[in-house]
Amino acid sequence: MSHLYKRCGVIVLSLLLLLANSQVMAQDSSANAGGAAAAPAGGGGGGDVEKGKTLFTNNCAQCHSVTADKVVGPGLKGINQRAPSKDWLHKWIRNSSAVIASGDAYANQVFNANGKVQMSSFPSLSDADIDGILAYIDQASNPATTAGPGDPKNSPSPGVTPASTSGPSELFTFVLVALLVVMLLVLGVLLVIVTILSKAVSPVTTTEGVQVASPFGQQLKENLSKAFHNSTLRSIVIWLFILVVFKETIDGAYSIGIQQGYAPKQPIAYSHKLHAGQYKIDCNYCHTGAQKGKNATIPAANICMNCHGVIKKESPEIQKIYTAIEENRPIEWIRVHNLPDLAYFNHAQHVNVGNVACQTCHGEIEKMEVVEQRSSLTMGWCIDCHRRTDVNTKDNAYYDKLVALHRKESKEPLKVANIGGLECSKCHY
Ligand code: HEC
Ligand code: HEC
Ligand code: HEC
Ligand code: HEC
Ligand code: HEC
Ligand code: HEC
Repeated sequence: MSHLYKRCGVIVLSLLLLLANSQVMAQDSSANAGGAAAAPAGGGGGGDVEKGKTLFTNNCAQCHSVTADKVVGPGLKGINQRAPSKDWLHKWIRNSSAVIASGDAYANQVFNANGKVQMSSFPSLSDADIDGILAYIDQASNPATTAGPGDPKNSPSPGVTPASTSGPSELFTFVLVALLVVMLLVLGVLLVIVTILSKAVSPVTTTEGVQVASPFGQQLKENLSKAFHNSTLRSIVIWLFILVVFKETIDGAYSIGIQQGYAPKQPIAYSHKLHAGQYKIDCNYCHTGAQKGKNATIPAANICMNCHGVIKKESPEIQKIYTAIEENRPIEWIRVHNLPDLAYFNHAQHVNVGNVACQTCHGEIEKMEVVEQRSSLTMGWCIDCHRRTDVNTKDNAYYDKLVALHRKESKEPLKVANIGGLECSKCHY
């Protein structure tokens, strides 16, 4: 009997260890899934329409759709037929206020019809660029099927591949846990059966010294209480309990200060899903610092007013923006991502120089109603990516010499770790 119990104990313990390991693996694979999506927005190439699409997505899509639906400016479907001339369009897009100021009748009519909202100027776009954009609008606005208003499929898709979620690995853990529970149950039942059977064959002695087989229920009760008093079984249960508590404590200790999944309620019900997802407003339009400096920065209320000066003025949520401006105080957004002071992180280094997509670190922000911290932001997370990620050396003369040196020593591409990405002083003050 005690052999059997010991063997069961070993099985249970190894299952437990397997479970602990699988959770670590699950975390790793989800981190990798995020990394795999690190590929930056695909470089264009191809015809004018392709280039026009990119230009449109980056410059115009936050205010215009390619259908007849109004976003901030009018829907641009049929613009080539509607506008006075190509030349007019070139002038308008480069500097619309100049065309309005010149007294142009059509320009003034459009301006007044849209609540006198000023369109941004694009002096750097060449005639060819604009023709590309117009060709793209023409093509995109006349597909075989026309989708309904507000359908996100109407607008051109952004070039960013969204980070995939950790779905499969979560499922994997779940299946393992379920399996473990089932096995434990089966094990328990088997133990009971084995005990009953072994007792059933050995008859019970009554007080008169006559051996009779006791009724089944009575026997079950006796054997269960024996199993309960069995010291091997008891110690297995106690050990299991200790192991589980131990694992929880260790996990808890490792996650002190980690805020993965943190998603506080914000003072205004601002939605990235609506703005960055549905209306495809570029991240950099609001987080202006991300390309230039350490902090991505949270937009000030006047950036909201570029649009909400006219859009949805009556909404109570939008009224909160007005109140903040009237009272001359900033909107008190609650910070989600926050490294401790001892660590240094720079956005421009990663986004601009490294060409890492926002979504690689922040997850699919454009699908979040409320922003949530998706990555752990631990030192291990930073280091892990620096070990895995190639430096973006293309078209960056700064790295030419380093790459040449590196080629002599290794066939592997230049990783961030090779340029000092693992040095303590790079990340710690
Ligand atoms: C900040 C928002 C904004 C951005 C960005 C923007 N527009 Fe506009 N656009 C407007 C508004 C608003 C109007 C309506 C005229 C007005 O109020 O000045 C307009 C009008 C137009 C018109 C005339 C529409 C008509 O019905 O005749 C064209 C063409 C146009 N925009 C093209 C573009 C292109 C191309 C881009 C990108 C290179 C662009 N716009 C970027 C806001 C914007
Ligand atoms: C229209 C303006 C706007 C656009 C466009 C926008 N954001 Fe934001 N973002 C905000 C505001 C306002 C907040 C602060 C409120 C909040 O957390 O929801 C914020 C918060 C965030 C945060 C959390 C900051 C913190 O507190 O840690 C991240 C990360 C972020 N944005 C990333 C993005 C990414 C990535 C995109 C593009 C896909 C994007 N944002 C597009 C306005 C914008
Ligand atoms: C480029 C234009 C643009 C900018 C900039 C912008 N929004 Fe919006 N916002 C919109 C559009 C378009 C809608 C959808 C309006 C609708 O549903 O008709 C919207 C809707 C909203 C709503 C939902 C209103 C409601 O009651 O349905 C909130 C809240 C909001 N925005 C907050 C903000 C905040 C805060 C900022 C600044 C950080 C901001 N927006 C910047 C275009 C913009
Ligand atoms: C390599 C990973 C990484 C990438 C790529 C990245 N971020 Fe961040 N982001 C972080 C970390 C880490 C923090 C916390 C920084 C801190 O607390 O000092 C942060 C904080 C933020 C914040 C809030 C605090 C601040 O810096 O103002 C915003 C907003 C933000 N990121 C937006 C963006 C946007 C938009 C992009 C893409 C243009 C982007 N991030 C790309 C890692 C990243
Ligand atoms: C998704 C991948 C990724 C993550 C996550 C990441 N980094 Fe980086 N990091 C890079 C890349 C790529 C570069 C190289 C940029 C360049 O070419 O200079 C880099 C460069 C750096 C550098 C400059 C290294 C040097 O030698 O010039 C520092 C400092 C840095 N990262 C800090 C951090 C910190 C701190 C974190 C975590 C909070 C972090 N990084 C997370 C990808 C990442
Ligand atoms: C790529 C960037 C990066 C590099 C390189 C790096 N660290 Fe860190 N380190 C961090 C970040 C980010 C944190 C904060 C993690 C957190 O809050 O969980 C941190 C935290 C720490 C902490 C914990 C502090 C605390 O209060 O918990 C210590 C200690 C530390 N680092 C030491 C080192 C040493 C020693 C090295 C060199 C061998 C090093 N780090 C290299 C990014 C880095």
